[in-house]
Amino acid sequence: MPLDKVKAVNYKRFLSKRVGQIPESGIRKFFGIAAKMPEVISLCIGEPDFSTPPPIAKAGFDAVYDKPIGYTANSGLMELREKLSEHLENLYQISYNPEDEIVVTVGVSEAVKCVFTAICNDGDEIIIPEPCFVSYEPEVVFAGGVPVQVGCKAENNFEPLASQIREKITDKTKAIFLGFPNNPTGAVLTPENALAIAKLAEEHDFLIISDEIYDRLVYGVEHICISSLPNMKERTVLLGGFSKDYAMPGWRVGYMCANPDLMEAFSKVHQYAIMSAPTISQYAALAALEIGEPFVKEMHEKYNRRRKLLVSGLNEMGLDCFEPRGAFYAFPSVASTGLSGDEFAEKLLIEQQVAVVPGSGFGIGGENHVRIAYCKSYEEIEIALKQMWEFISNI
Ligand SMILES: Cc1ncc(COP(=O)(O)O)c(C=O)c1O
Repeated sequence: MPLDKVKAVNYKRFLSKRVGQIPESGIRKFFGIAAKMPEVISLCIGEPDFSTPPPIAKAGFDAVYDKPIGYTANSGLMELREKLSEHLENLYQISYNPEDEIVVTVGVSEAVKCVFTAICNDGDEIIIPEPCFVSYEPEVVFAGGVPVQVGCKAENNFEPLASQIREKITDKTKAIFLGFPNNPTGAVLTPENALAIAKLAEEHDFLIISDEIYDRLVYGVEHICISSLPNMKERTVLLGGFSKDYAMPGWRVGYMCANPDLMEAFSKVHQYAIMSAPTISQYAALAALEIGEPFVKEMHEKYNRRRKLLVSGLNEMGLDCFEPRGAFYAFPSVASTGLSGDEFAEKLLIEQQVAVVPGSGFGIGGENHVRIAYCKSYEEIEIALKQMWEFISNI
């Protein structure tokens, strides 16, 4: 029997306008090009080059044999929530109740989705200081909210100023999303600035959602945990995770902490979408909190050495580089070369096989900059710097 001719399907018809309005991530496109080129030194990717510390990984493997690997409670293993509560109390003297103020998520990524889905009604505004990690703005849009960008400037150490934020506050402002230590700039918030932003949140009655995934990676300064500021625990949603500080990105574990009234709503999104974070990974995360400290310190020292090498190397070759005090990124301006960030990254890749990411992919304030991740060995960074010298000398 002859088959009927298959009717062409117009797939676009099925897609939501919300998803359609988000462009493809500029940085992913770049990773793709770099990944296909052999011999590239890739300083593109924002993930630790260290393996998960073996005793932490072993705790995950052991759990497979020793524990029932079913779903955990929706909020995560109680032992892990208890340990997280203790950990936050020790580091920042804030007290989160493991019963109803902490939920273990599939990385900070999932926590961002839960929070925006739970708080945004159509048209609600979320203030987002940029440059910033690429997922915040799309997640606001997916949830029906409206991202309101604030461009951070190098001359202000890439911090958002309270005066800039004040200008953007309207009666639709629901929250500000802070991501410090910052990806891509490496900026941290000074205590004065954090307090000024906290005061605005109180005065104008909005939430602070604070992605503190790089909290342990600060150099020569103290990390300011927003919820530990006076009166801030009640209006802060604290997001944290294991991907960066503990070199566990593929284990996919993070957490969100908030007041029980908010958490009840976040948990609804989490429980229907995810059920519970991966059980094996939760056991590994528990071990990270129990025995991970020496590894965190060791990796921190190595990052700091690389940071100093990279930043001084960039400044010596005439690329104005603000001193990053957190995370594992440098964010130099390439304006002195006469090239845009996009042109610089593309030509450097083709001519010297060094991959960096154009800053424009991270939002307002990123133009004419590139992000360089120092998640490569000291020796590889030395080679990359030599190749960059060569490239710049020939422009
Ligand atoms: C600032 C920031 N937040 C969140 C994430 C995602 O983290 P996770 O692996 O916990 O989902 C990243 C990853 O690069 C990041 O840089």
